[in-house]
Amino acid sequence: MKITSKQLRKIWLDFYKERGHVDIGGVSLVGDGSTGVMFNVAGMQPLMPYLLGKKHPMGKRLCNVQGCVRTIDIDSVGDPTHCTFFEMLGSWSLGDYFKEERTKWSFELLNKVFGFPADRLAVTVFAGNENVPRDNETAMFREKSGIKKENIYFLPKEDNWWELERGPCGPDSEMFYITDKEPCGKDCNPSCDCGRFVEVGNDVFMQYEKVDENKYIPLKQKNVDTGWGLERLLVFLNSLPDVYHTDLYVDVISLMEKTLGVKYGQDEKVTRAMRIVADHTRTAVMLIGDVNGIVPSNVGAGYILRRLIRRAVRFARDINLDLGTIVAVAKIFIEKVYNDSYPLLLEKEDHIVKELQIEMEKFNKALEEGRKEFEKVLNGIEKHKQFAAQKGEVVENIISGKAVFRLFDTFGFPFEITKELAQERGYAVDEEGFKKAFEEHQEKSRSAAAGQFKGGLVDDSYETAKLHTATHLILAGLKKMFGEQVVQKGSNITPERLRFDFNLDHKMTPEEIKTLEDFVNDAVKREIPVTCEEMTLDEARKSGAHGIFDSKYGDKVRVYIIGDVDSQICGGPHAKNTKDLHHVKIVKEESSSSGIRRIKAILD
Ligand code: SER
Repeated sequence: MKITSKQLRKIWLDFYKERGHVDIGGVSLVGDGSTGVMFNVAGMQPLMPYLLGKKHPMGKRLCNVQGCVRTIDIDSVGDPTHCTFFEMLGSWSLGDYFKEERTKWSFELLNKVFGFPADRLAVTVFAGNENVPRDNETAMFREKSGIKKENIYFLPKEDNWWELERGPCGPDSEMFYITDKEPCGKDCNPSCDCGRFVEVGNDVFMQYEKVDENKYIPLKQKNVDTGWGLERLLVFLNSLPDVYHTDLYVDVISLMEKTLGVKYGQDEKVTRAMRIVADHTRTAVMLIGDVNGIVPSNVGAGYILRRLIRRAVRFARDINLDLGTIVAVAKIFIEKVYNDSYPLLLEKEDHIVKELQIEMEKFNKALEEGRKEFEKVLNGIEKHKQFAAQKGEVVENIISGKAVFRLFDTFGFPFEITKELAQERGYAVDEEGFKKAFEEHQEKSRSAAAGQFKGGLVDDSYETAKLHTATHLILAGLKKMFGEQVVQKGSNITPERLRFDFNLDHKMTPEEIKTLEDFVNDAVKREIPVTCEEMTLDEARKSGAHGIFDSKYGDKVRVYIIGDVDSQICGGPHAKNTKDLHHVKIVKEESSSSGIRRIKAILD
C-alpha cells in the first residue's frame, strides 16, 4: 500500500468519523503548565479534564491528529527512529465504549484498512501487579478481534502502563508490527528492543487517576485513549527503511544531498547530521510557528528551543552545511510539507525565519568568542608547561573542568565543541571536573535564590538585580489590577529568569497577562530611576511603602522607590534605572499551590 501523510491523516479521521467520532482538531504544542510537562507530549494531554469526568462539548467519541513534542530523547535523534516532533493519530471514548469495540476497531484498521497480515501483528497486555489485576479481558478481546494467541504478550507495569506526572492513567495494550528480523533469543518479545517488534500504536484503558506518586484512585468513568504514530505508520505502509524516506522529509533530505554532493545513507556521519538538522529544524519551525509560539531563550520551553536550533547548527557545521540551507529546510516544511495541515506556519513564515536567523547568528557569535577564549586557555596551559619544564616538572595536556565550565557558562561554548577542539590540538578535557563545576554552579544559584529575601542576599550580577526590579514592577501591576490584597508569596531569581508567586483566586487570562506585561514595560519605557532611602519602619509605613513590616530588618529599613510606580521595603540590590530592563516578557503563568499563582518572566 502506497500512501502519503496527507492521505493517512484523512483515512484515520474518516475511519473514526464513520464510527460516530467527532474530529476535535489539534491544539497548541506548548503545554499550559497544568500537567507538569512543558510540551504537548500526547493527544490525550488537552483532554485531561474530560478523561477525569468533565462533559466534553463535542460528545463522548472523539478523534484528531495532534502534533506532539518529546525532547527527552534529544540525544538519540540522528538514529533511524527518534524524532523530537511527531504527529499522533488519536481517538477516544469518554466513558462510552470500552475494550471490546476498541480492540475490534484497532484490528480492523491494521488488518483490513492497512493490510497488515494477522500473523505480522503482536500486542502486549498488562500483566498485573499488587494494585491492579492482570488485564485478561483485553487479552480475550484482542484474540477475538483476530490477533493470534501466540502473539499476545503479558508485560509488567514498566511496559504496559500509561501515565503522565499526574492525571488520568491506566493499563495499556500496545500494538506491534513483526518485522523480518530473526528473534534475538527464545524470550524475544516486544519489550526487548532488538528491533524485531516495532510499535505502531497504543490503546490505553484509562480507569485510574494518579493523584500523587504511588497513589492511584479509580476514575468515575472508564475511558479509552488511543494514539498511533503517523510517521511510523507511514514507514511501514510504504515499506520504507526509516522516517527520513517519508514524504515529510524527502524534500529536505534531497536539498541537503544536492547542497553537499553526498547521498543520504552514503556516509554514516553525514547521514546522522542530516537527520539531526532535519528533525531539529522541523521541531523549531513548529514551536516558533505554533499558535502559542515561543522564541529561543535561556529558560523553560525557550531553552529547549534554543538547544534544538544550536544543536542543528552544530551538526550542520560539522558537515559544512551552511546556515542558509537550514533556512531553506525550514521553508520546505512551512511551504510544502505542512502547508495544508499547519497553515498557520505559512502565516507566520517571516517571523519563524527571522527567529531562526537571529538565534543562529547569536550562536555563531558565541562560537567565535568562545573560540578566542579557548585559545587563551590553551596559551595559559602552554605557558604553565614551560615554567614547569624549567623546574623539571611535567604538566599534562588536560583542560580543567573549571576552565571548560567557564567557556560554557560565560561564553555559551558547548562542551562538545570544547572537547572536539581540544582533541584536534592534542588535549583532553576533564569531563568529570566539568560536571562537578556544573553541579556546584547549579547548587550555588539555587541557594542564592532561596536566600534572596531572607537578608535581601543576591547573586552579584546585574542581571539578577534587574530581574529583582522586574518583580517589584510586576507586584505593583498586580496590585493595581487586582487590589492591595495581592502580596508576594515567594520569589526565586536566577541571572536568566525570575519566578514570582502571589495570591490570586483565578488563573490569569491572556488579556490580564498582556495588561500586566504592558504595565511593566510602560514603566521600563519611562526610564524611571530606582532610588533607595533608609528610614525607620514607622516612617516607611507612613510613606505608603509596602512590604513586610517585620522587625527582622532592624530599626532602619531600606525602601526602594521606582518613581510613582512602586515603593517597597526591600534589601536590594536593584537596577539603577528601569530602562536597564530593556523589555520584560512573561513566559508563563501557572498554579503554584492552592490560591497561589506563579509567574515566570525573562528580560529579552
Ligand atoms: N497516551 C497514549 C500514548 O501517548 C496513547 O495515546 O501513547
